Amino acid sequence: MKEKLEQIKLEVLKQIEQSDTLEKLNEIRINQLGKKGALTEILKGMKDVTPEERPKIGQLVNDVRIEIETILEDTKVKLEALVMEAKLRNEVIDVTLPANKSKKGHRHPNTIAMEEVERIFIGMGYEVVEGPEVETDYYNFEALNIPADHPAKDEQDTFYINGDILLRTQTSGTQVHEMEKGKLPIRMIAPGRVFRSDEVDATHSPSFHQIEGLVIDKHITFADLKGTLAEFAKELFGEDTKVKFRPHHFNFTEPSAEVDVTCFKCGGSGCRFCKGTGWIEILGCGMVHPNVLKMSGINPEEYSGFAFGMGLERIALLKYEIDDMRLLYENDVRFLKQF
Ligand code: DAH
Repeated sequence: MKEKLEQIKLEVLKQIEQSDTLEKLNEIRINQLGKKGALTEILKGMKDVTPEERPKIGQLVNDVRIEIETILEDTKVKLEALVMEAKLRNEVIDVTLPANKSKKGHRHPNTIAMEEVERIFIGMGYEVVEGPEVETDYYNFEALNIPADHPAKDEQDTFYINGDILLRTQTSGTQVHEMEKGKLPIRMIAPGRVFRSDEVDATHSPSFHQIEGLVIDKHITFADLKGTLAEFAKELFGEDTKVKFRPHHFNFTEPSAEVDVTCFKCGGSGCRFCKGTGWIEILGCGMVHPNVLKMSGINPEEYSGFAFGMGLERIALLKYEIDDMRLLYENDVRFLKQF
């Protein structure tokens, strides 16, 4: 009996030693000390023991039980400490870790292009001015030498608020506002939003942006216009860029021209980007029409000037090689964050 007890004790101690979780430990307690446990089994066999032996055996069983319980309890305390330690280690909050960074936005490609154009002209001594987006017919058309019945008006169909007030179709009206101030000479650019009742597609939008330019002084000639725009093109698209002036018609300039630059992608030899021509159109320009000067109170005998106007989106699309203008307005962060 004694040997059996010793055997049980050794077996249980071995099991305890090998148990590495509280669950396993609890299982040992139930299996060994519980109702169906080995020790209980021995107690049940007491009836076969002689009456003299019983107290001794009973004592022995009890001693073993206490010993096992003590070791179980000690092991339990140790395991609980380990569990707590692991928990503390895993769930620790490191207050020295950097906080989640809030994502900062950045400038829209339109804005980047606009600031680039502004930078170039400011460098040439131009002032940046702004005009109203809601205009009267006079500033948008009439004062720019586009009379009421002129077909040029149809080309720039827009959103009328009433018969006389409209959303401007071009930034050219800003020229008139500046000239009317009567402060000469003028060297200005006017970036801003314009509107036309166009359907949305890859190259059109009912709302887009233009940058207007105007220079008025004594003895300004077409040579000044050419030199200025050639310099601008080089700054914007690279030192090797050449410009080409194609005759055109605008009511408010005479003579008028459209300006192409050599394709910055192929250098002028012709590629997919410039549709094989080697040239890319970037703006319209000309010498300010004497009628326009006169209407704004400037004497065309004394003063002359040049003007130009370009689409900002067009510049942004060219500069970043974007092939669809709609991307500029969708505000998809995945697109915008590339610039
Ligand atoms: N306003 C013209 C347009 O929207 C662009 C333009 C051409 C502006 C010639 C000018 C200019 O100032 O001189 O098509």
